[in-house]
Order: sequence, then structure tokens, then C-alpha cells
Amino acid sequence: MVHQLFYLSSAGTNFDVVKDIKAILAKASSYNPKHNITGILLFHSGLFMQLLEGPKEEVAGLYNKIEKDPRHKNVIKVFAIDHNPRIFTNWSMAYKEVTDVDIKMVNKILSFNNLITRTEKIDNELIIQMLNEFKKHL
Ligand SMILES: Cc1cc2nc3c(=O)[nH]c(=O)nc-3n(C[C@H](O)[C@H](O)[C@H](O)COP(=O)(O)O)c2cc1C
Repeated sequence: MVHQLFYLSSAGTNFDVVKDIKAILAKASSYNPKHNITGILLFHSGLFMQLLEGPKEEVAGLYNKIEKDPRHKNVIKVFAIDHNPRIFTNWSMAYKEVTDVDIKMVNKILSFNNLITRTEKIDNELIIQMLNEFKKHL
């Protein structure tokens, strides 16, 4: 049993994809293992999607910091649940820049466009399935 929190956000106006992603992943690789946190960070045309998984208090603590980070804005929590097995067991924080090919792949599971624009509520289970699919293609 692990707590899983998934959110969406938009990169800030001065976000530098190479430099800032590198700094975020460096931070995650030291902080996350110490706090038993794993997950995946997805990036697609200025938009982030991140899954944080681990003990509930640790996930909530990290999300609190992330939410306040000026490198992104419009942070929207999609779900925080605790009934799924850990997905990214071997990653402190996996990272993937989502391509059009990836979008075609996940559209078989859920409408990616629908997820990022949030025009309709998407079942948490479909998001979990999408993340499992990304895991296969890391
Ligand atoms: C999109 C995004 C994802 C992030 N993911 C993580 C993460 O997984 N782990 C982490 O430690 N920091 C992450 N950060 C960085 C935190 O927001 C924050 O900079 C860090 O926790 C601050 O640590 P400090 O208070 O020790 O400087 C992320 C930031 C952004 C913008």
C-alpha cells in the first residue's frame, strides 16, 4: 500500500527546459530516496504531469514544497489515493518528455488532450494505466 499523488502544472514563463529540468531531477535524486518517494515527471509543451508515490506524510510534505515552486504555476492536484501498488519502484524520479508518438500510444487508454485540458473528469484508474504504459517506454 502506497500513497500516490498526481498533479498537473504549467512551466513558468522563464522556464529553461534543459537547465531547470536538470536541477529538478538532481534535487529529486537526492531528496526522494531519503524519503522513500518514487515517481515520474512528464513534460509536454510547457506542461508538467507528476506522480509522487511513497508514505502519505512524505508525499504531502514534498507536494507542499513543489506547489510553492516558482518554476511552475497553475498546480492542480488530480488525485491523492492510497490503494495502488507502487509503480516506479526503481526510480527516484523517472523523467520523460512526452512526444506525439507517446500521445498516440496513451490515447488508446485515455484522451491525453482531455487529461491536460481537463474538459472531462478522467477516471484515476485510467491515469494509473497511462503511467504504467509510460513506464514500459522509459
Ligand atoms: C515540476 C517540478 C517537480 C519537482 N519534483 C521534485 C521532486 O520529485 N523531488 C524534490 O525533492 N524536488 C522536486 N522539485 C523541487 C521542489 O519544488 C523544491 O525546489 C525543493 O523541494 C526545494 O528544496 P529546498 O527547500 O531544500 O531548496 C520539483 C519542482 C518542480 C517545479
